[in-house]
Amino acid sequence: MISANDFIPSKYTHSVESGFFQWSAPSNIALVKYWGKKDNQIPANPSVSFTLNNCKTITKLAFAKKNISTALNVTANNFSFDLLFEGQPKEDFKPKIQKFLERIEIYLPFLKDYHFTIDTENTFPHSSGIASSASGMAALAMNLMSLEKALNPEMTEDYFYQKASLLARLGSGSACRSVKGQVVVWGNHANISESSDLFGVEFPRAIHANFTNFQDTILLVDKGEKQVSSTLGHDLMHNHPFAERRFAQAHENLNQLIAIFESGNLDEFIKIVESEALTLHAMMMTSMPYFILMKPNTLEIINAIWKFRNETKIPVCFTLDAGANVHVLYPENVSEKVLQFIQNELVGYCQNGQYICDKIGNGAVLI
Ligand code: DP6
Repeated sequence: MISANDFIPSKYTHSVESGFFQWSAPSNIALVKYWGKKDNQIPANPSVSFTLNNCKTITKLAFAKKNISTALNVTANNFSFDLLFEGQPKEDFKPKIQKFLERIEIYLPFLKDYHFTIDTENTFPHSSGIASSASGMAALAMNLMSLEKALNPEMTEDYFYQKASLLARLGSGSACRSVKGQVVVWGNHANISESSDLFGVEFPRAIHANFTNFQDTILLVDKGEKQVSSTLGHDLMHNHPFAERRFAQAHENLNQLIAIFESGNLDEFIKIVESEALTLHAMMMTSMPYFILMKPNTLEIINAIWKFRNETKIPVCFTLDAGANVHVLYPENVSEKVLQFIQNELVGYCQNGQYICDKIGNGAVLI
């Protein structure tokens, strides 16, 4: 079995003075949810997600080796980086990056040898309530791996992607599922031998054509700041009265999804996906302290989807993250009808009528 120590490099064969890389990495939407973690960003249960296509972070990482005079300076023992968001300095993002660099330094021992300029932007509005931590951490991890590959060109493709996902995980758990597409599993599962708590892996089995180009329309119900940070949310699963049962259920649901991906049974798919979304919120409602992250319009949308599905038999369903926005999931061949339904009946529940059309995608790309 691969261990985290396998990703600590011994010695680099090449040296690189300066340059830059640029990667885009997408967001992802979990079908079986990651909610609860152990030390070092190890998930309490396995999760599986669709990688998205349009909601992305694009990050350019410029690097220049510190010269000897700066290296003698006290700053040599610190990480040295500037952070730009859409080309403008963004001080409030820096502590998160600082913490990320501290966590990953053991895996990338060259980090203090360089000054970095990280220039990042999202393809979705910053205040949309769509978390940029998954795509953002994945994009940064890809760039850092490109630099490590320049220092050690013999590295294999498997090592490159596994380590990129491992680094992204240390930035934000769900980010480890944004490196690859189209369906990614993160966390040990008995029936997926490739699966790992350390990094996300491409779902290694057949996926039925019903899931080809699967659509995700994100309804922006509430674009406000998150009421509960994901860090606090995960913490609430410690000593949670239903935690153990919930973690076992995630294993069972992922097991069922393995068969569903193969058979293409959309009715069964819908049951698992909607139950997972409501369970995630049930965990928040039954923790101490407790939270309701859905808004009245979240429930209006869910009820409208159920009514539409009952009446039309069109296999459309919803999932939720740790917030009020609703992801509407459906196969490509019904997209015209579902989009019409969204425009006629759901847009009114969205803040300023806003929604984002996305679909299943392939993961991070070097630009
Ligand atoms: C509800 O990955 O944001 O979206 O590891 O603390 O950064 P950290 O948490 P994060 O948690 C995401 C939780 C979720 C479900 C999921 O994506 O699986």
